[in-house]
Amino acid sequence: MPTTCVIGLQWGDEAKARVLDVLSADADCVARSQGGNNAGHTVVIGSEKFVLHLVPTGILRPQVLAVIGNGVVVDPEFLMDEVSELRRRGVEVGENLVLSDRAHLVMPYHRLFDGLAERQRGKGKIGTTMKGVGPCYADKAARTGVRVAELYQPDLFRERLQTTLAEKNALLRGLYNEPELQSQPIYDEYIEYAEKLRPFVRNSQELLLELLDGGKHILLEGAQGTLLDIDHGTYPFVTSSNASVYGAMSGAGLPPHRIDRVVGVMKAYTTRVGAGPFPTELSDDVGARLREVGNEFGATTGRPRRCGWLDLVACRYTTRLNGVDSIALTKLDILSGLQTVKVCRGYRVDGDVVDVFPSGLAGLESAEPVYEELPGWSVELGQVRQASDLPGEAQHYVRYVEDALGVPITMVCVGPERDQAILREKR
Ligand code: IMO
Ligand code: MG
Repeated sequence: MPTTCVIGLQWGDEAKARVLDVLSADADCVARSQGGNNAGHTVVIGSEKFVLHLVPTGILRPQVLAVIGNGVVVDPEFLMDEVSELRRRGVEVGENLVLSDRAHLVMPYHRLFDGLAERQRGKGKIGTTMKGVGPCYADKAARTGVRVAELYQPDLFRERLQTTLAEKNALLRGLYNEPELQSQPIYDEYIEYAEKLRPFVRNSQELLLELLDGGKHILLEGAQGTLLDIDHGTYPFVTSSNASVYGAMSGAGLPPHRIDRVVGVMKAYTTRVGAGPFPTELSDDVGARLREVGNEFGATTGRPRRCGWLDLVACRYTTRLNGVDSIALTKLDILSGLQTVKVCRGYRVDGDVVDVFPSGLAGLESAEPVYEELPGWSVELGQVRQASDLPGEAQHYVRYVEDALGVPITMVCVGPERDQAILREKR
């Protein structure tokens, strides 16, 4: 059985979870490999809407093992609340949830420093989700982080906490003019979480490798999107992990040659939340309309998302970078009712038209999109169940995008419900 990676091709919020939910119908395992509760993954099942942040979406399928991999950063209080909420709503959470013992823990000071660092950045602020994700990954890289495993070695945990807090307190005092933190209350709080988390904690890498050896079907659930990737995104307006296919491998502990398929998820238009360059952003009525009709408000922070046309320069970059085998095109229904639909085919930078996504902020900020204008369609798409029943203009749009990217679009979503995902044959 194949291992499939599901990756966002834009700035997050591509509706990865709704695609994953469809793909997980015949999966044995869904594993998250990076990000934390900065993600907001929405799945609609009939009249029920679930918004998941840390627990893999596979938890909603009874036969699926949901794994929080080593590359995820975990806020234990948040995780336990999410588990309680799922149980309250009748979702079974027990042996079907696994938490990697190598995952790093989001500590109270990470959340605090996320806010303080944003305040310090002033005008240059990133517009983070304030969940402490960036500072947690920073400590991981600085080798001062606390992993799940350390919770079960109390002496080591206490020592790590004291050393780290000495440094954090110097910053709080000297740079931010804020009161210092005491280690004992944090220690006590986290030792309590240790007991609550215990039933879920396992060596997830070993487990995933065993599943692979047993021929099981593993889905890797990407969080954020490739343009938010720390290495390949619009740095510094990015998240602090590898949101591309590369993070999926290291964050789950799976060898590259065992990844059989990369499914890229791409929204039929573009959105971004938080600051940073966005060449095809629309500040006019069309942008406002996309936001309203597409309900483009953050699932994690409630912030209105910035909206704009589909950017094929950016998506060509991300499909190639991730080695995408097939694309799931989501929210095509939101474009209904527009006279014409534009797609960006190039950027005008300093008078020249380029089709390569610029590496630097200056190039991106000065990039003026060069559009191709395609005919729109007026009919609503929510009832369509077969690609051949889409209006001709919508079919044209899908084929145009497919040709421009050179990657087959094998799923087109026309609404959030499970049956509103149209499967398409490769041409
Ligand atoms: P899903 O998985 C959209 C954005 C934030 C901010 C930047 C850094 O739902 O697609 P962070 O808190 O990660 O340090 O913030 O990244 N961001 C997302 N935007 N979808 C997400 O996740 C995001 N996770 C982080 O808005 O610009
Ligand atoms: Mg989201």
